[in-house]
This record gives sequence, structure tokens and C-alpha cells, in this order.
Amino acid sequence: MKKIAITIAAMLAVVISFAQNKSTDEQKVGALLKKMTLEEKVGQMTQVTLDVVSTEQDGILDAAKLKKAVVDYKVGSMLNVTHHALTVGNWDSVITQIQDETKNTRLKIPIIYGLDGIHGQTYTLNSTLFPQSIAMAATRDTALAAKAAHITAMELRASGVRWEFAPVLDCGRQELWSRFPETYGEDVFIGKTMGAAVIKAYEGNDLKDATAVASCMKHYIAYSASRTGKDRTPIYLPDIEMREYYLPQFQAAVKAGSSTIMINSGEINGTPVHASHYLLTDVLRKELGFTGVAVSDWEDIERLYTRHFVASSPEQAVAMAVNAGIDMSMVPSDFSFYDLLIEAVKKGDVSMSRIDEAVRRILGLKIKLGLFDNPYPEAAAIANFGKPEYQQVALDAAHEAITLLKNSNNILPLQKNVKVLVEGPSAQSITALNGCWSYTWQGNNAQYYSADSKTIFQTIADKVGAANAITTTSKNFDDKTNYDTAALRAASANSDVIVLCLGENAYAESPGNIRDLALPDNQIALAKVAASTGKPVILILTEGRPRFITSVDSSMKGILMAYWSGKKTAEAVSDVLFGDYNPDGVLPFDYERSMGEMVLYDRKPTEDIREVFNDNISGGYDPLYPFGYGLSYTTFEYSDIKLSSNTLTANDKLTINITIKNTGTRDGKHTVELYTHEHFSSITPNMKRLRAFQKVDLKAGESKTLTFMLDKNDLAFVNEALKTVTEPGDFDVIIGDKKATFSYK
Ligand code: BGC
Repeated sequence: MKKIAITIAAMLAVVISFAQNKSTDEQKVGALLKKMTLEEKVGQMTQVTLDVVSTEQDGILDAAKLKKAVVDYKVGSMLNVTHHALTVGNWDSVITQIQDETKNTRLKIPIIYGLDGIHGQTYTLNSTLFPQSIAMAATRDTALAAKAAHITAMELRASGVRWEFAPVLDCGRQELWSRFPETYGEDVFIGKTMGAAVIKAYEGNDLKDATAVASCMKHYIAYSASRTGKDRTPIYLPDIEMREYYLPQFQAAVKAGSSTIMINSGEINGTPVHASHYLLTDVLRKELGFTGVAVSDWEDIERLYTRHFVASSPEQAVAMAVNAGIDMSMVPSDFSFYDLLIEAVKKGDVSMSRIDEAVRRILGLKIKLGLFDNPYPEAAAIANFGKPEYQQVALDAAHEAITLLKNSNNILPLQKNVKVLVEGPSAQSITALNGCWSYTWQGNNAQYYSADSKTIFQTIADKVGAANAITTTSKNFDDKTNYDTAALRAASANSDVIVLCLGENAYAESPGNIRDLALPDNQIALAKVAASTGKPVILILTEGRPRFITSVDSSMKGILMAYWSGKKTAEAVSDVLFGDYNPDGVLPFDYERSMGEMVLYDRKPTEDIREVFNDNISGGYDPLYPFGYGLSYTTFEYSDIKLSSNTLTANDKLTINITIKNTGTRDGKHTVELYTHEHFSSITPNMKRLRAFQKVDLKAGESKTLTFMLDKNDLAFVNEALKTVTEPGDFDVIIGDKKATFSYK
């Protein structure tokens, strides 16, 4: 009793101190706002890129340009690098000079600096690179994703940076999209849960901590849904679809406490999101209750005039975006926003109260981050950079991501005494293992990667000995030698097995646009020739999106999806190949067969069962490898599903138990996924929806009983009136090959 009383008292104390801090912060903001001129306020809303204050040399600032930005234009925020990652020491000096310059302004308001730490701290040399989000989703290990995010936060803060432009919460339902690798894949629930966990890990309990950064959920909203898959091209999206598949991740992120949000550069139904009062104010603020800072994406306010043609002048573009609800403009290459917004306010096109609202949010964030107390890189934060134990987390994450798609006649794991021919463009490429946002924006410059980064060829040689690992490839993904089928054929004579490394070299955003998801012909040719040698071929796919392999799938003996799994991709691939790690990754998307059949796992009934006119294509859902698929070197068996009741009511919870047994001879981890399916509903039901997952670690022969809970919210969908509802009816609970049914009343 006493213990409970003490705990309640402690909790109350935290709540009271939180409330007190909040009100003192608000008072501070109010007091500062009163002193500020219009110019100072608009300066706070202006964000420029590092180029604007830099010399030609990376990491070296230009004193006159810095003064112009900070003192003359009073900018509140900066971002990015000039070309590539800097050292922690360079960052220390850059951030220190910038904050020093703010001391020459009237109100000495610190700058907030932001960077993209997409899968680790992109822009600091020797930072730890983790799997891209698509690969993190394959781990189905939310705690591991959070661990990686926490390290990313520490390495950002160690670089003097307190604003993280992540996580990407765009739902990956368009596999052509060049930013697909930055997503958690096609499922809403994974995006919601991993996104929220990662946000909490970035932000910690207190943004003042030397381990915390402000997160930025992005890119609000439906950026991933472009019709053609080309980056920043039109999206046509009915509200019902937006609310069912794209909004819940942001809703969960707001609840998880994300401090900031970045806006989708594209247009939805003809309205650029940067100009949408409905999305930026009505939905985001009024419906979701978001109170943090909304920042534009790169140059996107100006683009309302130059690219979207909804504003007929640059000044109208600025007024439109700020009135719609944008608080800060990532201008980022000049001061046009500053000049134009001042003009717009003076003309009465933007109200002073809208400006005050935006600035209040920006100042509030700076206070919460402790920038007013000490804006400089902190010694305690710097000490957290590059700790050796981070490498293990990177390896754990890569291990758990790698997804075994095929293992004919248990060809894997390989023995360590075989002679291996390692071929294909990613056999000796580092960049094709890491992908976008890796020390440079595109991630395709190997020169900036840490010296101890390994290639797949190297890690295979580590397993079988240098004499038993052969390759005819070179390090550069695009080198002609990597596509030389004659050289491959000749070298195969001297090998027992061919490990063929195909996929995609690094790309980010528009440079990653493609017209076809099929693997390029020169890679397919390699696979065909490799198979024709008669040697068994193991295909390793290092890629950000599922490029079609349908034409060669049947001739491969083993297939490993490696994604872009970061610094330790090669180690993880070889550990799986040689049985030092038992694979447990599962697909976070459907690995489709062809462009004509892009049907997702949560398909509608008429996508699943078509009218049978042409029998060849009557079954609509027929991916090469389905969502949730991934093999292991052991086997797992599920007991029947036990439900606590056959009915669920509005105020109830349904308890679901299932026992999993490792029936093989190896220890292994396994993801248990719980899906539901409603038999009939007013909006056509999905064939399946993922509602929960848990990952278990089972020794050979071991069993564990898992418990899941569902309530009515887990069964809800968006109805015709755009309301999220749960309708009475019968539901299946599906776990693996087991099914049970209950009624919601
Ligand atoms: C991207 C954002 C990113 C920003 C700053 C933009 O091009 O769309 O995701 O945060 O650049 O680097």
C-alpha cells in the first residue's frame, strides 16, 4: 500500500513538474514574442541550407555570408551539408560558429539545425549506418528499431544537431517509388507501431537530454502515393483511402509526441499539400491535435509558383503556404521567403496572429531542446559518438532484416569448405548495400564510407578462406566487368557454388525514378548464364525496392533478400549463407511478379477472386513471395488459436492465445503475425489486415505461448461517411495456418 502511495506521489510530482515547465516555457515564449519585430519573427520562420553560409570548401564557413544570414536576415534555422558528411570535429566547429554569430543579434535567439538521419546519422563520417526502414520493417522487431533510432539520436546530438528529419511515415504502397526504401513498407500497422517507437526513441523523456533530438514525422501526407511512382508527381487519393492507409501513421506519431512535421512536396487531387488549408490545418491541427512545428520540404513554397502553378507570384505562394499552416520554410537557398513574407504581412495577406502562432511553436521547440540554455555541441553528447557497441546493434538489425525467400532442397546453409564464385554488380560494392542517405544524399560515393565497411565478397572470403572465394567483379556497381557473362561462365568452372549479388545501387529521391520494376536486362542475363553453368546459384538481392526476378526465380536454388541493410549487410548475408545466423526476416511488402499484378496483401475481395473469363489470370493476388513471408533453417508449428470468448463487445477486450513450437533442430527467432478479416461490412472488407505481431526466440524443441489482445479499435475501418467505425459482424483471426472466428456485437 505504502509502495503504491509513493509511486502515485512520484507520478504526480512528474505531472506537476511537467505542467509547471510547460507554463514557464509558455511564459518565456510570450515574453520573447512581445519584444520581437516583424523581421525577427519572420527570420525565425526562415530556414536556409549550409551552402548559403559556406565557402567552396566543405565544412568551412564564410564569415560575411554567415553574418548576412544570421544578423541581417535573422534566420532561425539551418540544415544540410554542402556535399558530403563532415567529421564530428567539423560539426563542432560549424555549429559553434553559427551559434556564436547569433550572439551578435539583438535577441540572441539560438539557431535550430536539422539533418536527415534516415538510417543512422547520414551526414557525420563514421556514424553507424543501420538498415533502411524497409529492412527494419522486415525485422518486425520494434524494440530493435527503437534501439537503432536512439543511437542515431545520440550521433546526431554528438554532431551538435538537435533536429532529426525522420521518421519517414509514408506508407509504401507504390513499389516503383524511389523513396520506397525509406518506408516501413505497405502495411499501416507496421508503419504506425515502428514509427511511434522510433519517435519515442529519438525524443526520449526530455529533449534537453544530451541523447535526445526532436523528431520530424514526414512527409505529411501520402507523399508515397504518386500515381506513376515518380517522385513528386501527382497523387489522386480519395479521402477514404487517405484516412484508411496514410493518416493512421501520423495520428500515432502525434500521439507518440513527435515535435515537428514535414510536408509532402506533391499535390493531392490537384492541390499541392503545401497549399492545403484542409490538410495542414483542419486535419493536422484540429483533427489530429498536432501542436508542434510544421516545416516545408525543400523549396516547396516557391514551387507553388514555379512548379505547381497554383500561385501566380512568389509572394502569393508564400502567403498561400503560411496561411495554409506552414510555420517554417525550408527555403533553402536564398532569403526570398523572408522578404516576401514581410511584404505579405504588410499588405495584409498574412495576419500577424498567424505569424505569432508559427513563431510561438518554433521558439517553444528551441526552449524544449535546451538551446536557450546551451546551443553549442555538448561534451556529454560528443562522448556518445561511435561507441563500439553500436556496431553490434547494426549487426543485430542486419541479421534480423535479411529475409530468406528460397532454399531448394536445403541448399543453405553452405559448408565452409566450398569454393564460392561471388559475382554480380553488388558483390564488391559498398554503396549497393547501404543505399540512400549514406554519407551523401545519394549514398553512391564509396569514398566516404568507413574504412572497415565490408563487401559481400570480403565476408564470404572470411568464411571460406581467401583461396576459396573467387570473383571477376570490380568495386564500382556500374563497371562493365560486373556484367561480363563470359567471364562469369569461365570462372564458374573452378567453383562449387555461385553467389550472385544483384539489385540496385544507391539512389535517393528523383534520381531513383525508374520506368519498370524489372531488374535490368544485363542483370537478368547474369542470372541466366549463372544458372546455365549447372552450378547451384544463390541469388542475393541488395535493393531498396522489390525488382522483379520472375524470369529467373525458378532457376535459382536459394534467394536471400538483403535490402539495403546498412554497415553490416555483408556480414549478415554471409552469416546467413554459412549458417552462423538462422534467418528470421519477413517481407514488409509483396514481392510481385509483374507490373500488371501489383495487388497488395490487404487486397479487396474482387482483387482476390476475379470473374473467371480468362482462367490464366482469375486469381488476382499471386505475388512471387507474399507479405510476411520468410524462411528459417528450423521449422515452427502453431497450436490452435484459443479465444477468451466467441463474442466481443464495445467495452471488452478479446484475449487470443497461441502456442508456437520450434520443431526443428536449430534455435531460431520467429515472427508471429495476427491478422483479422471481417466477413461482411458496409465498405468492402480487406481480405486480411495485420493487427499485431510479436517476435519470439525459441530454442530447438522449445514452445512458448503468446498472448494477444484485441479491442474494437483494432477492427475499425473508415466508412463511407469518413468515420472510423467498427461494425458488428463476424471476424476471422488468422495466425499462420490457423484460424478462429468470433462475433463483434
Ligand atoms: C527531402 C526531405 C529532406 C530534405 C532535407 C528533401 O529533398 O524530401 O526528406 O528532409 O530534403 O534534406
